[in-house]
Amino acid sequence: MIEKKFGIIGKPLSHSLSPLLHNFWFKKYNVSGHYSLIEIEPHEIEEAIKKIRNNELLGVNVTVPYKQAVIPFLDLIIDDAKETSSVNTISKNKDGKVVGNNTDVYGLEQGFINKLNNQNLDQNKVLILGAGGVAPSVIYALSKKKITQISISNRTAKKAEDIKKKFPYVEIVDWKNIEEAAENIDIIINATSLGLESLNSFEQKFERIKSNLIYYDIIYNPEETIMIKNFKRKGAKTFNGLEMFMYQGQKSFFIWNRIKPDIDDEAKQTIAAKLKW
Ligand code: ATR
Repeated sequence: MIEKKFGIIGKPLSHSLSPLLHNFWFKKYNVSGHYSLIEIEPHEIEEAIKKIRNNELLGVNVTVPYKQAVIPFLDLIIDDAKETSSVNTISKNKDGKVVGNNTDVYGLEQGFINKLNNQNLDQNKVLILGAGGVAPSVIYALSKKKITQISISNRTAKKAEDIKKKFPYVEIVDWKNIEEAAENIDIIINATSLGLESLNSFEQKFERIKSNLIYYDIIYNPEETIMIKNFKRKGAKTFNGLEMFMYQGQKSFFIWNRIKPDIDDEAKQTIAAKLKW
């Protein structure tokens, strides 16, 4: 049987657990496939996409910093990728076209937003910290639930302004004012890379927050960032990005293999065993 080759393109990739997840599922569902890390420089994107065109690779995920950068090299972008201008999954369709899709939106819905069972969800005020590759997916997933009272803040203001061009209803908050802005917020979402590798955290203390604040960290490695610990201590309900990660992987796996893998304890434990604390 010919082994189907998949991978993830981005840089850096050292903390990606996507190979672990997909290779676990290949084994579980008896698919002859292998998924690897493909760390590339910007000038190598075109070459990597060519490998999908000529079937050397059957599909790839895309991560930082290339979720937008891959778009010019694709034949078309569809569904949530079109809505967000952000591609994290590439495949070839039956007409031989190289297609960009986005499974981060589905990951966020299944792994976080659908778990919020408070009434009047659409009345929630959300503050998104960070305007990098995943921010458009966060805003679009929230808007599908009619949550549109969204503020966004980024250390580099220009990136937040670019996001506002695509989602004009989003309000921009100056990075130096995030602590103040957070005071009447219901849901804070960390979409920055702060907290990764346990090393760093927000300088801000966020002393004054709503008593029922929900804090969501897209980071899942470590499972508990310093920020999650701090917000938990203050009484906030906290979530990490582990389920989002698993669900975006589930949809990518389905796009490539037409099998919807289970997000069950076995899959979660496979990943959790590799997480740092
Ligand atoms: P990129 O935006 O380069 O594609 P990303 O991982 O999608 O990469 O985004 C990283 C996010 O974390 C950005 O919002 C980044 O802010 P800048 O746009 O100002 O770089 C944010 N970030 C990373 N380190 C940070 C820090 N020390 N303080 C605040 N924000 C930080």
